Amino acid sequence: MRLWTLPWKLLQVVLVFSRVCVCACEGERHTRNYDYMEGGDVRIRRLYSRTQWFLTIDEYGNISGTQDPNNCYSVLEIRTVSEGGVLAIKGLKSQFYISMNRSGMLQGKKDYNDSCDFKEVFLENYYTAYSSVKWTKNGREMFISLSQKGRPLKGKKTRKESVASHFIPRKCSEDEKKLA
Ligand SMILES: *[C@@H]1O[C@H](CO)[C@@H](O)[C@H](O)[C@H]1NC(C)=O
Ligand SMILES: *[C@@H]1O[C@H](CO)[C@@H](O)[C@H](O)[C@H]1NC(C)=O
Ligand SMILES: *[C@@H]1O[C@H](CO)[C@@H](O)[C@H](O)[C@H]1NC(C)=O
Repeated sequence: MRLWTLPWKLLQVVLVFSRVCVCACEGERHTRNYDYMEGGDVRIRRLYSRTQWFLTIDEYGNISGTQDPNNCYSVLEIRTVSEGGVLAIKGLKSQFYISMNRSGMLQGKKDYNDSCDFKEVFLENYYTAYSSVKWTKNGREMFISLSQKGRPLKGKKTRKESVASHFIPRKCSEDEKKLA
């Protein structure tokens, strides 16, 4: 092999092994989807709302807020599902995913599907909002929210600017991470 062919060989290797590059060369849009069970990044967190509730998913799959900072149903597994900050959020104790249906209602689902995908939106002041990837209402995003009373709002009533849609992910203790 002549020496000058080496860089070209190297490039071929890169092309073969880098799906992203191949897609880019073909001019395709690409987002890498992870197998949600193998996932990308996994974080164990509580979601503390700006309205001062911890989001819980109970053993019936009901979603609501609690003010008990030690409630085990508020320990959540937040898993990256695809690039661009798409996440699936599961109660570690109840093993229900948060899903949003077409009418913007939050419900727990035992089996993951795309209704469980939420996009993480970073806001000012350390808050994060989570909008449904699957469903919008008249072109508007619908968010996970907890009202002043600690109840989820119907998706079409939620706004990115609303305090009810603002959360701070809080770290959990090592013991709490073993809940499942
Ligand atoms: C929780 O879910 C169960 C079953 O879907 C339902 O019967 C019950 O009323 C719910 N509880 C609350 C507090 O929403
Ligand atoms: C959405 O979920 C709520 C609560 O579980 C249910 O009452 C409603 O019928 C659902 N809507 C659709 C369109 O699935
Ligand atoms: C997700 O699963 C539910 C059944 O649990 C199904 O009704 C729904 O069509 C699926 N997809 C979406 C996007 O909700």
